[in-house]
Amino acid sequence: MAARKLGRGVALVGAGMTNFGAFPGLSTRDLFVDAFVEMRNSVDKGFDPADIESLVIGNYSSTLFENQNFTAPFMATALGLVPIPATRVESACASSGVAFRQGVMNVASGLADVVLVGGIEKETDLPTAKVTDTLATASDSQFENPSGFTFPGLYALLATAYMDAYGATPETFMQVGIKNHENGALNPKAQFGQSIPQIMASKRASAEKRGKPVPSWDNELAFMHDDRSNPVIAWPMRLFDCSPVSDGAVAMLLVAEEIAHNFTDKPLHIIGTGQGSDVPTYERESLTSLKCAKVAAAQAYEMAGVGPGDIDACEVHDCFTIAEVIASEDLGFFKPGHAHGAIAEGQTRRDGARPINSSGGLKSKGHPVGATGGGQICEIWKQLRGEAGERQLPGDPSVGMTHNLGGSGMAAAIHIFERRN
Ligand code: COA
Repeated sequence: MAARKLGRGVALVGAGMTNFGAFPGLSTRDLFVDAFVEMRNSVDKGFDPADIESLVIGNYSSTLFENQNFTAPFMATALGLVPIPATRVESACASSGVAFRQGVMNVASGLADVVLVGGIEKETDLPTAKVTDTLATASDSQFENPSGFTFPGLYALLATAYMDAYGATPETFMQVGIKNHENGALNPKAQFGQSIPQIMASKRASAEKRGKPVPSWDNELAFMHDDRSNPVIAWPMRLFDCSPVSDGAVAMLLVAEEIAHNFTDKPLHIIGTGQGSDVPTYERESLTSLKCAKVAAAQAYEMAGVGPGDIDACEVHDCFTIAEVIASEDLGFFKPGHAHGAIAEGQTRRDGARPINSSGGLKSKGHPVGATGGGQICEIWKQLRGEAGERQLPGDPSVGMTHNLGGSGMAAAIHIFERRN
């Protein structure tokens, strides 16, 4: 594929998100308005919402989760943005990553100077079994779904293939979960904002209070191996390998590079964007890497003129812990089959050589699917501007990347960001 450049430069000048979690009584409209308000407050020099020329919103399925189709004009209405164009983008769990790319293209093409990109999902009104069915409509309804595959099952398939090919063990995945909960404990937006030691302590305290036998685990891995505290969902994926069922919303403001200084002195420039697709699991040559992500990463790196070694901060799509392992190889951080060794050495921790998912990732921060890609961008916004608080990465990061997957890895959207001052 020929190397591509944007028609003109695009900058991110504001980003905001709700907490991710379960919010009974709040609709996606309420959540999106909250995310918009936070985004507006994040624009250093302020702006007039009347200047927004276009809205692109990522949403997997308000249709099935909330009985509300045709989401985009309702979101524009909620913010008082009509009659600007309002477009919904659906790409399963990559919906807001792909929406962001569409927003970038709106600005890069010259169609608009100021574009609002959003991401929304409200999953927790349904019981888990219904959520599982709704999410499973993003798997193949002809073959995967009727064979009994759920998303935990599909990622378990990738996990067993990876273990078989490279000699990894379930402990590799447990280490990813432990690390992401450690990071999420420092993220006030996280749905499960507790480290594994904190969860162990609260489970002990709760057993003591109820007069039940108090569990004794020697360490975090013992907790992770315990079928009572960490039951198998779809082997080898256990509870603490799965992202949760979540609600949440995000909002991001994109503008033409030449006017970015009107909004902030610290914009993030979009220096690379890539998107790829793939066939369903049963038609793939390999289950140990995801072609859509490799293709998207190659496009984004080429456009940006950077390589894996230049990325200071990276959020990857750990819908299940195996997905983070594979992503770290697909993005070129580790050679195929080498991620599990690097994870065991602690290289992907915040203080490691290759930090991944400083936000806590989908595992701990939460995974409201249509808002997830935007949530990753919100973390990069904070990290590159030095605003990530206790979880701020060392070394003044200036180049960041997001990796947002859809379904079992049938879609990927990847972006690279740079702060220049
Ligand atoms: N990680 C850790 N703990 C979790 C959790 C998760 N993902 N999901 C729920 N829990 C905890 C709850 O806090 C609760 O803890 P408590 O008993 O101490 O209060 C307990 O587990 C039971 O919660 P509940 O909501 O009843 O869990 P559940 O059995 O209904 O759902 C999963 C658990 C794993 C099935 C569900 O989170 C899930 O389906 N995740 C995957 C979502 C998905 O597929 N997303 C798309 C990816 S492509």
